[in-house]
Amino acid sequence: MDKARWDELKRAAETRPTIASLFAGDEARAEGFSARFGDMLFDYSKTQLTDETLGLLMDMARDAGVETKRDAMFAGEVINETEGRAVLHTALRAPEGMKPEKLSDAEFGEVHTTLARMSDFASAVRDGSFKGQGGKITDVINIGIGGSDLGPAMGVLALAPYHDGPRTHFVSNIDGADIAEVMAALNPETTLVIVASKTFTTIETMTNAKTALDWMAAKVAEPAAQFAALSTSDERTAAFGIDASRVFGFEDWVGGRYSMWGPIGLSMMLAVGPDAFAEFLRGGHEMDRHFADADFRENLPVLLALVGLWHNQGCGHATRAVLPYDNRLSRLPAYLQQLEMESNGKSVAMDGAALEVASGPVVWGEPGTNGQHAFYQLIHQGTRTVPCEFMVAKEGHEPELAHHHALLVANCLAQSEALMVGRSLEEATAIMAEKGLTGAELKRQARHRVFSGNRPSTTLVYPKLTPYVLGQIIALYEHRVFVEGVMLGINSYDQWGVELGKELATALSPILAGEESDAGKDGSTRMLLGYLRG
Ligand code: F6P
Repeated sequence: MDKARWDELKRAAETRPTIASLFAGDEARAEGFSARFGDMLFDYSKTQLTDETLGLLMDMARDAGVETKRDAMFAGEVINETEGRAVLHTALRAPEGMKPEKLSDAEFGEVHTTLARMSDFASAVRDGSFKGQGGKITDVINIGIGGSDLGPAMGVLALAPYHDGPRTHFVSNIDGADIAEVMAALNPETTLVIVASKTFTTIETMTNAKTALDWMAAKVAEPAAQFAALSTSDERTAAFGIDASRVFGFEDWVGGRYSMWGPIGLSMMLAVGPDAFAEFLRGGHEMDRHFADADFRENLPVLLALVGLWHNQGCGHATRAVLPYDNRLSRLPAYLQQLEMESNGKSVAMDGAALEVASGPVVWGEPGTNGQHAFYQLIHQGTRTVPCEFMVAKEGHEPELAHHHALLVANCLAQSEALMVGRSLEEATAIMAEKGLTGAELKRQARHRVFSGNRPSTTLVYPKLTPYVLGQIIALYEHRVFVEGVMLGINSYDQWGVELGKELATALSPILAGEESDAGKDGSTRMLLGYLRG
């Protein structure tokens, strides 16, 4: 990492012009600071980026080796250096004939064989030729957490209009409340349980899987026959008792939070069918080609990354809000929290040296218009600037409710406009004077109604939330994370930060059960243990 360049970026950010002045000085700003890929439009003109600062960021991207490292990733080089692995989730969506250079024919062949096995299994469940012990499968429970939950859970919700398979439920939390509620509502005789875990060791997933097995065993003669497994470990899935015919494997070069394109997407495939799932893969792959081929100024993942770095590392805005004006993307912010924060929330560079700039931002959000009636107050008038990433479809899935969609779109555009233009004290004063206020009360009330404006946002517009478009959106964000990670010089593909808490939880269990002493624990933990043990 070239610290001097980051300092240069920060200095440039200190004197950044207002968004309004940029529009005033350039009639073609919207065209110049937007990019299209197919039917998708990414507008980043409502930011304070200029040709100079964008040019600087592009130079930084080139100097950081984004192109070389991108090619290395697509080729299957070992770019996850701390775990000694390639990063090849893109191979899961690559059509036959598009084998990554370093991947063996056998491994690439296995990707397609597994996909075909998933399709056959999903079709058999969907058409009833694979049966539960009480008849056709009516419900599927996906048990998994993190990347083995968030992707398919987000995707099933996003593709609800295409959902014509069994009902799909997701259990992730170790809190028994999660699985208890799902089990209470279902008939084990017609339920398929999918245990989704890359490692097949994750405590939450294995505890929930065992509980589900007991629940199933109380009602059906062969409980494990209604279980499937998605994992990289054949030994552990076999030890659990799941027949190899219902085990769908993948390799360690697929990171958990990048895994919904392969076996981890089985619940999604069961819900929407193999054809729609294939469309999802096609969308992802087309975004891969775009990322690999397009010039930086036209390259959506690169632009999204540069805007992100500008706001966080350049301007010092430590959070970003993801605001889909698409209710079916309500789990997208949670999905992106793992994708972005588990990937780029690091303090050391790839070589182990301390990071000299801020790492990835805090990502959060909710669908519009709900967020408007909750936290947008802070976004519009709070003392912090929160860059907002709006997204909206041109067309909804409910033609009979087109008037709803028109209002949804109007709200989305109104928010980015309001953030940018704001409302001055003069305007607020005129409005309140019109209402009859005068003197000191007019001044006081007017001040509360001022919007500073000049608050940045981007807007991603797409034709309609189809499986294909969903694939494009997810791959777009994956590559954005990659570019940001490369430019920060960090490894976006490990997650050591989740380990310490796991180890301490394991050590605390016997103390909580009264089997071991709490000696050596800090005062706060001892007090909490004392309370919880009664
Ligand atoms: O929380 C850490 C993590 O390893 C995530 O990266 C991963 O998605 C999740 O746990 C689940 O892991 P597994 O699929 O191995 O159960």
